[in-house]
Amino acid sequence: MDSTVFRTRSHGTPAEGVKDQYADGRAAKVWEFFIGDIKQRTQNYRDFLVGLLRQKGCRRILDVACGTGVDSVMLLEEGFEVVSIDASDKMLKYALKSRWNRRKEPAFDNWVIEEANWLTLANDISHLIGEGFDAVICLGNSFAHMPDTFDDQREQRQALANFERCVRPGGLLLIDHRNYDYIINTGQAPPKCIYYNSNHMLNIKTSVLYVSGKPRIVTMDYMIALDEENKDDPDISEFRLSYYPHRLTVFRDMLTETFSHGTKHTIYGDFKPLDEIKEPGFYIHVLEKKF
Ligand SMILES: C[S@@+](CC[C@H](N)C(=O)[O-])C[C@H]1O[C@@H](n2cnc3c(N)ncnc32)[C@H](O)[C@@H]1O
Repeated sequence: MDSTVFRTRSHGTPAEGVKDQYADGRAAKVWEFFIGDIKQRTQNYRDFLVGLLRQKGCRRILDVACGTGVDSVMLLEEGFEVVSIDASDKMLKYALKSRWNRRKEPAFDNWVIEEANWLTLANDISHLIGEGFDAVICLGNSFAHMPDTFDDQREQRQALANFERCVRPGGLLLIDHRNYDYIINTGQAPPKCIYYNSNHMLNIKTSVLYVSGKPRIVTMDYMIALDEENKDDPDISEFRLSYYPHRLTVFRDMLTETFSHGTKHTIYGDFKPLDEIKEPGFYIHVLEKKF
């Protein structure tokens, strides 16, 4: 319905079937420019993520939004066993390329990469779940890509239930989203961003679409310079991505329902305890599934 009044994705991206906003290949092609230096990007959360996973004894990780493979590669390099899935073949192409280029390293040779959709995830990868993964990660503001097609968040609940089914008892789900409360209140994203700090970023325009008085879609238009040298007349790539604006408390409650009450649920802001950070760019939820 929304796409009849507002174009939520780049031209050329299909509106039917899996809503793959990356299908035109534009964002996928420049993703590494977008996220900046890969090592620098992951350094921001490497210690937090790897520290937490090790502290909880996690070994086998499922990355449910691997995209081009940034987080998965970081975890492989840190010695974890990784299964990576994504719905976008355009994004997966780059992950598959990294695996091929580093196939002589055993961790990369054993890296499992599959195309799958969150709505059917537990079926799509039933052959890989076994007793469940030690941790499931969904990072980089990925979950917010899922639209609220029926205006009751049923698909989001279904996707979260699938994530929960992939976590072993005692295992973890790590899932993040931008600070949409801030975006809804101010019309723009907080200036600081823990993931995307590329020197190539020229501009991000943020729009908030209200339907029947409710914020329904946040759209971000990214403008990226492909050559840093030619600053006056850079080669520019533009792409548009849309997100469902999850309010922190609503999303927290949806996670609590999915994981049953009493589950340990800790929320971080930009990977710090919430009382140490005023206006985080991202919230990261860590859930520990009950035994
Ligand atoms: C923002 S990218 C993040 C990729 C990576 N985690 C990163 O931070 O670079 C979001 C990814 O989520 C994937 N995605 C969105 N909806 C999906 C769905 N329903 N099922 C599986 N993957 C999905 C997209 O294809 C995309 O590659």
